Amino acid sequence: MNLLILCRPGFEPEAAAEIADATARRDISGYPEATRGEGWVRFHAFDDGAVRGKAISASDLIFARQCVRILADLPDLDPADRITPMLDALRDCGDMRFGELIVEHPDSDTARPLAGLARSFGNALRPALRRAEILSNQPDAGMYCLHVCFLSSRHALLGLSQPGDHRVWPQGIPRLRVPKHAPSRSAQKLEEALESLMGEEERAQWLKPGMSAVDLGAAPGGWSFILARRNIHVTAIDNGPLSESVLGTGLVRHLRADGFTWSPPQPVDWMVCDMVEQPRRVAARMADWFVHGWCRRAIFNLKLPMKKRYAEVVANLSDFHNRCENAGVPVQTRARQLYHDREEITVLAWTGR
Ligand SMILES: C[S@@+](CC[C@H](N)C(=O)[O-])C[C@H]1O[C@@H](n2cnc3c(N)ncnc32)[C@H](O)[C@@H]1O
Repeated sequence: MNLLILCRPGFEPEAAAEIADATARRDISGYPEATRGEGWVRFHAFDDGAVRGKAISASDLIFARQCVRILADLPDLDPADRITPMLDALRDCGDMRFGELIVEHPDSDTARPLAGLARSFGNALRPALRRAEILSNQPDAGMYCLHVCFLSSRHALLGLSQPGDHRVWPQGIPRLRVPKHAPSRSAQKLEEALESLMGEEERAQWLKPGMSAVDLGAAPGGWSFILARRNIHVTAIDNGPLSESVLGTGLVRHLRADGFTWSPPQPVDWMVCDMVEQPRRVAARMADWFVHGWCRRAIFNLKLPMKKRYAEVVANLSDFHNRCENAGVPVQTRARQLYHDREEITVLAWTGR
């Protein structure tokens, strides 16, 4: 028994190092197995029961798009009937019932052509699971979610993710609704961060119309555009020009200034930062904002170095926390390599103040 982690292809070593850390912290012994470029990591636990007792979800991990507890490994499926062995394998797992079904595949060059199979197979499997009373008739996020992950057209893993894990999208990739006229592709990054780093209740509480925000490194204005769409007033800091479509919202004020020295005259609800800079420098400046009480919440990027990417992420996040703690300001964080993040991760930080 094992865990399956889906990640960005090329980041298997980071995902493997992270799951090794996360399982060690929960006293689960085992080892990760990964092949570079395949977009997945498998963690082999020596004691299956240990994994079952200590749920690990993708929301606990930075480099995991999906984290699934494997129920069955079906390496030699007959394309003429893949459903029967799956139903048999699920019955062997005991009296399990699921509230949702996700059929997916890794995001690698070799597995991406499986998208069509995943789609059509999901349509065929869903009614069969309902007839067998393994899947609820209506989607129910309060129950376990069943995952079928195709590694090839003959090889599938069956697994489950935790009830209430709000990050259950196929491949762990959220569906976004960003208008085509957004000023930059970066807009998708912030929208994804808002969708995947916060739960529904947090979004309702934390993103209210009329709130204030600062966008550091704002040009051409994708992130400001996403905030303005939610009727949040934005001060956009960048020496570069902002697109007319952002300024035209009437909610965004542009200041030409240095994002590493500028500070707000009054505290704001949000600070977001997409400045391309050394991650250590960004982490330190982000901590300044919390230490001085300039913002209550923040979303910022940490660019990844070429080497030792996982170690560098851990060091930068712990430096950020230490700076805040030493100043007596407890700050919580959630960090993720988003689908739209290439060589970077995105961090949500918030204080109770
Ligand atoms: C990746 S772009 C930001 C894209 C933006 N988030 C969007 O959605 O359109 C990085 C921006 O950071 C700005 N930048 C880099 N260093 C900066 C600094 N010290 N102060 C202010 N802006 C800076 C650059 O001018 C650039 O426009």
